[in-house]
Amino acid sequence: MSAPVLTFFNNKGGVGKTSLIYHLAWTFADMGKSVLIADLDPQANLTAAFLDEEEIERLWEDPQPGATMFRAVKPLTAVGDIAEPRLQRITPRLHLIPGDVELSSFEDTLSSEWPGSMGDSNLYRPMRILSAFWQVLRKGADQIHADIILVDIGPNLGAINRSVLIATDFVVIPLGADLFSLQGLKNLGPTLRSWKSLWTKRLDNWRASREAGEHADFRLPQGSMEAIGYLCQQHGVRLDRPVKAYDKWVKRIPQVYREAVLNESEYASVTPELDPHCLATIKHYRSLIPMAQEHRKPIFKLTSADGAIGSHAGAVQDARRDFDELAGKILRKIEKHHP
Ligand SMILES: Nc1ncnc2c1ncn2[C@@H]1O[C@H](COP(=O)(O)OP(=O)(O)OP(=O)(O)O)[C@@H](O)[C@H]1O
Ligand SMILES: [Mg+2]
Repeated sequence: MSAPVLTFFNNKGGVGKTSLIYHLAWTFADMGKSVLIADLDPQANLTAAFLDEEEIERLWEDPQPGATMFRAVKPLTAVGDIAEPRLQRITPRLHLIPGDVELSSFEDTLSSEWPGSMGDSNLYRPMRILSAFWQVLRKGADQIHADIILVDIGPNLGAINRSVLIATDFVVIPLGADLFSLQGLKNLGPTLRSWKSLWTKRLDNWRASREAGEHADFRLPQGSMEAIGYLCQQHGVRLDRPVKAYDKWVKRIPQVYREAVLNESEYASVTPELDPHCLATIKHYRSLIPMAQEHRKPIFKLTSADGAIGSHAGAVQDARRDFDELAGKILRKIEKHHP
């Protein structure tokens, strides 16, 4: 079995995607999994969580191909081939394909190749470019015998994210409890279904083409993008807002998720706590967040030497338990669909 690709996605920004991936990556690695993380958000926040500025600057100035996802796919825009990614080793079980602000310049290439991939000739180039992220993820995963691949993306429905989703087996949707998050969810479900169906058409078109026979060893992703659940974030809640406002939006999530993402119409009379599609409610970690950022570690690895004393120490233990539980739940969902 090849390592499943798991993408955290919501076109509403600031819902905690990057923080979640950072913490889950450490959790999976602590469980003994070999984890590949790919930062496909041109803002590169996930990269900044793992590497200091000097290291990132060195990577971005490195003339060799493959130092970031963008540097690995860039040769395709000329006459070259995808470069082998040069992974950043965070620990023996945790490797990163760094992000790159320059990745945004690949957005235009991806948009302009999209129509050409449905033509009846010259399909090889567009199909290579549209699946380039997946090809790089596969190469990276092979280098470290990855068990799981976690991908972070920016909050939009653009061509970069469409290509990431084509490369994705499973989608997790982090949500805030507010009007904007719920509205984002309403757009997200139909967009995922549309991308999936458009990619399936392209795969069929490719398979029926003469070129498919000429490139028999060219593999393509299936574009499953199966939604395995959502997460409710409490930290998006303004502390000065009444709890009632949070409850009001939270209660609506199970129904909107079923309608927009699962395309089901039955009425769901569950609250997120009892909803099997709710993977977790992520607590507001308050001052532990800056403490963890300062020490460049996940909150559940903070020690008394880092300042996690008194009630903080208890919160650190709780965070460890919560992330272990969440990681276990995600693995069970994946195994069900991807045995
Ligand atoms: N559980 C939490 N408790 C408190 N603060 C949090 C928590 N999770 C994330 N944050 C903070 O919320 C902000 C947004 O989080 P994050 O960057 O992870 O969101 P994002 O969805 O990746 O954002 P973007 O859409 O810009 O990529 C950050 O300042 C982060 O430190
Ligand atoms: Mg982010």
